[in-house]
Amino acid sequence: HKKGFIFDLDGVIVDTAKYHFLAWKKLANSIGVDFSEVQNEQLKGVSRVRSLEKILAWGNKTLSEDEFMKLMGLKNDDYLSYINKMDASEILPDVSKTLDFLIEKKQAIALGSASKNATPILQKVNLFHKFQAIVDGNDVSKAKPDPEVFLIGAKLLDLKPEDCIVFEDSVAGVQAANVANMISIGIGEKDVLHEADYIFKDFTEMSPAFLEGLISGTVK
Ligand code: BG6
Ligand code: MG
Repeated sequence: HKKGFIFDLDGVIVDTAKYHFLAWKKLANSIGVDFSEVQNEQLKGVSRVRSLEKILAWGNKTLSEDEFMKLMGLKNDDYLSYINKMDASEILPDVSKTLDFLIEKKQAIALGSASKNATPILQKVNLFHKFQAIVDGNDVSKAKPDPEVFLIGAKLLDLKPEDCIVFEDSVAGVQAANVANMISIGIGEKDVLHEADYIFKDFTEMSPAFLEGLISGTVK
């Protein structure tokens, strides 16, 4: 049985969700807008453009195209200042172990991220070589919850969507996986990710038996 395991990046493989939050919050505050951690859940998995649109809507602000582009640039520069300091110690618990387990079982592994910074981040934490296919914000035209990112991933792995499993920490990503007809596994809180087929707090809670079940198809 060969299955495709598609991993989201931010908040699943590495703890970068906190850096996105800090950078967006600073940017929003600089234009007199504030938002809560609950609202921040809506920014997870969502593209850079869509995130700024949401923040502006929360603050009832409209901007010219030029200002919009400038603010996106400022947010990304700030975000990159965090990313540049990253190393393998920021890989989330048992992610490497899970990747190695799946590789040993000859499973196909892809990245399915909305981020345009995905490749440098994977290189920084030294996980780039573990992925057979990388699909990120540079490859898609429709952001999550649209299933495009995961459907391209399945195609690159040469597998049918129904033979793919997605790990996601965002509501938008879980919805995208569900629409793609893949098994959705939420990584995070049950009350946030309740639309997922299975939910785990993190990879330390996922047993080898569960992963074996996904591979053999007894877990579906
Ligand atoms: C997603 C994050 O992975 O990537 C979002 O969950 C982020 O918060 C999106 O906005 C786009 O990322 P980037 O790095 O291209 O700004
Ligand atoms: Mg994520």
